[in-house]
Amino acid sequence: MFQFILLLVECTIEISIKPHSVMDNLFLAAEKCINASNIEQKLELTQQTFNALKLGDLDTQLNEPPVLIGDPGRPLKPELVATRGLPRRRMGSVAGCAALIHSFVHIEFNAINLAWDAVYRFRGMPLAYYQDWAHVAVEEAYHFGLLRSHLNSLGYDYGDFVAHDGLWDVARETAHDVLVRMSVVPRVLEARGLDATPAIIDRFNSIGDKKAAAILKIILQDEIGHVAIGTRWFVYLCEQRGLDREKTFVAMINDYVKERIKGPLHVEARIKAGFNAKEIAYLDQLVN
Ligand SMILES: [Fe+2]
Ligand SMILES: [Fe+2]
Repeated sequence: MFQFILLLVECTIEISIKPHSVMDNLFLAAEKCINASNIEQKLELTQQTFNALKLGDLDTQLNEPPVLIGDPGRPLKPELVATRGLPRRRMGSVAGCAALIHSFVHIEFNAINLAWDAVYRFRGMPLAYYQDWAHVAVEEAYHFGLLRSHLNSLGYDYGDFVAHDGLWDVARETAHDVLVRMSVVPRVLEARGLDATPAIIDRFNSIGDKKAAAILKIILQDEIGHVAIGTRWFVYLCEQRGLDREKTFVAMINDYVKERIKGPLHVEARIKAGFNAKEIAYLDQLVN
């Protein structure tokens, strides 16, 4: 009897050892999240991958190098058009408000892919880096869901309007170096969101769309956290490479995104997100 139980235990152990699958490795799981074209599947994989990483169920070593992802998975709609092809969004009508909300939904959808690309592309970073960006991916998925539900309540869905085709360009432009990625995506683009959101919240409040205003308030708080994560890893990489933080910050802006810096700055939010006085002063003279 004892031997039979032992045999049963051995068999159970053997059965419970899973064959190698994409969910076993963090980088392959992140790649799967990026490539998922079905919305629900992308959201589900995002949560699953985050959970598995948190539980320590994912291997964070992979010998294969990352590939450049030309086009992340997305549904057939929205139709993507150049910025010039985007209609002006006037908030005076429900359709105008919906078009504006739709553009935010689209940004959040891309932000899920960008967060996973920060995980997928850059190997050999500390575990905390991957945990941070998996956490960002989950929050972007949450923002996507909040805004999409509001869009639904206005009688529209994601895909009902055309959308910006250039949001993945920055992923391609910054794919060669994690320091460049950290400098540009969280600390310029997401930080630009911190600057712009308060005025948009005021605008939604003024037209009586309290729900949209409340959602954007949640997003603003979370985005401070995303930019802070960018700062954390930007500073880490500067220290690791023996680079001067402020000089690197200025060089990155000059090389990649100088024309994208616009004011006014939300200084309080930027300080919470880790910008120091010298960085704020530099940005200030760029926008004034
Ligand atoms: Fe977001
Ligand atoms: Fe974000």
